[in-house]
Amino acid sequence: MDKLVIRGGNRISGTIAASGSKNSALPVIAATLLTPDGTFAIDRIPDLKDVRTFIQLLDYLGAETSFENNLLKVSTSDLKSIEAPYELVKKMRASIYVLGPLLARFGHTRVSLPGGCAFGPRPVDLHIMVMEKLGATVTIEKGFIDAKVNGKLRGARIDFPIVSVGATGNALMAAVTAEGTTILDNAALEPEIECLCNFLVKMGARIDGIGTTTLTIDGVDQLKAVGFENIFDRIEAGTLLAAAAITGGSVTVTGVVPEQLASVLDAFRQSGCAVTVKEDSVTLVAPEKLLPVDITARPYPEFPTDMQAQWMALMTQAQGNSTIIDRVYHERFNHIPELNRLGAKIDIRDNWALVHGPQELTGTKVMSTDLRASACLVLAGLVAKETTEVLRVYHLDRGYEAIEKKLTTLGADIERAKYQEF
Ligand code: EPZ
Repeated sequence: MDKLVIRGGNRISGTIAASGSKNSALPVIAATLLTPDGTFAIDRIPDLKDVRTFIQLLDYLGAETSFENNLLKVSTSDLKSIEAPYELVKKMRASIYVLGPLLARFGHTRVSLPGGCAFGPRPVDLHIMVMEKLGATVTIEKGFIDAKVNGKLRGARIDFPIVSVGATGNALMAAVTAEGTTILDNAALEPEIECLCNFLVKMGARIDGIGTTTLTIDGVDQLKAVGFENIFDRIEAGTLLAAAAITGGSVTVTGVVPEQLASVLDAFRQSGCAVTVKEDSVTLVAPEKLLPVDITARPYPEFPTDMQAQWMALMTQAQGNSTIIDRVYHERFNHIPELNRLGAKIDIRDNWALVHGPQELTGTKVMSTDLRASACLVLAGLVAKETTEVLRVYHLDRGYEAIEKKLTTLGADIERAKYQEF
C-alpha cells in the first residue's frame, strides 16, 4: 500500500497548472453512453483512479476506449450490457451516473446501489425520483436499482427538494432524448454541471437556462459523438492555493477560472492572504499571520464542501478560533481525529467544528479516510514539524493527479513510499 512521507516546514511557492476536473469528467464520460453514433475525443481528462474506474465500467458495458496523455477516446456503438456491477459501483459512487444514459438509450438498466461512504450515508433517492418522474418504473432488488420504461422517457417538471449535483446530472442525461420538455427546478449550479450541459448541447441536445437553477430540456431524437475539452479542477486549484497559505508561501495556479472559486478566494482574502486573479489563473501570497475565518459549506456558489477539510487544516494555524459548518454533508469530519493527532485542537459539536488556533503541529502517522480528508492531512503535514506519514493515499489518488509531484515542484519535501498494513 502507498503512503506519503512529508517533512514539514518548506514554503510552497511557484507556478503550477491545474489538471482537468474530476467532477465534470465523470458525468461527461457517462454521457457518451447516450449515443452509438461515432467516437468521442475528450481532452483534459485527469488521469486519476476515479476516472480509470469509470473507464473500466464503460469497458465492462462494451464501450471501446483509449486513454492517454489526458485524451479519452470513446465509442459506445456496440454496448453489450446494461448493468453496472456491484464491484465497480462500490469502488466509486459516481457510477450512478450511468443510470440516466443507459435508461434513456435502452429503456432498461440495472445499477448497483452505491453503498455508504466515509462521511455518512449518501442516498440516491433523488436519482430514483427523477427516473420515475420521467416515466420509468424503478424497483430495488438484491441491492440493485432496476429501472425500466416502455418506449421513450417522457419529459416532466422536476423540482429538487434539495440541491443535488449527481441527481441534476442524471436528470439532464435522461431528459435530453426524452419525448417532450423537461424542466428542472432547483438544479445544481456547480460549474461541473454547466460543463456537462455544454457537452450535451455540443452533442445536439437542447438545453436552456444553463448556469441557472432552472434548466429546460427539449428532447431530441439524435445525438452525436463530438470532440470536447473538459474544464479545469477548481477543487484541486483551491487545495494547491491552500498549500501556499498554510506554509507562508506564494503560488500561482494556472488554468483555473477564478469565479468558479470566488467563495474560496474570498475566504483566503479574509484570512489575510493577498489574492490576485487573471482570466485563467489565481495567485495567492500568504500573510505572516493567518486570521481566523468561519466558513459554512453549502451548494455552489457558496463555499464548497469539497474544500471544507482543507480549510480546517489551514485554520489550525490561524491567530484565533474559527468555526466550520458543513450544510451539505453533516458528518464530513473524519479528518478531525487525525488532525488532532498531529496536535490540532478541534472540538466537534453536532454538525459544526470549533478550531482552536494557532496550534503547532508535530508530524506522526495519520490515516486517510476519504479523498478530501487525505488532502487535508497532506496540507497539515506541509506545516507540521518533523515528519508526517499520510497512510492509505489510495483515497488521495482517487481525486488528485500526481499531487506529490506538483507539490515537489512547488518546494515541498514529500515522497511516496510503500508500507504494509497489519
Ligand atoms: C458530488 O457528489 C461530488 N462528486 C462530491 O465530490 C461533492 O461533495 C458533492 O457533489 C457536493 O458538491 C462528484 O461530482 C463525482 P450531491 P454527489 O448529490 O452528486 C444528498 C469529491 O470529494 N442527496 O450534490 O453525490 C446528499 O446526501 C466528492 O470530489 C440525497 O439526499 O452529491 C448530500 O447531503 C465527494 N439524495 C446532498 O444531497 C440523493 O439522491 C448533496 O449531494 C442525492 C443526494
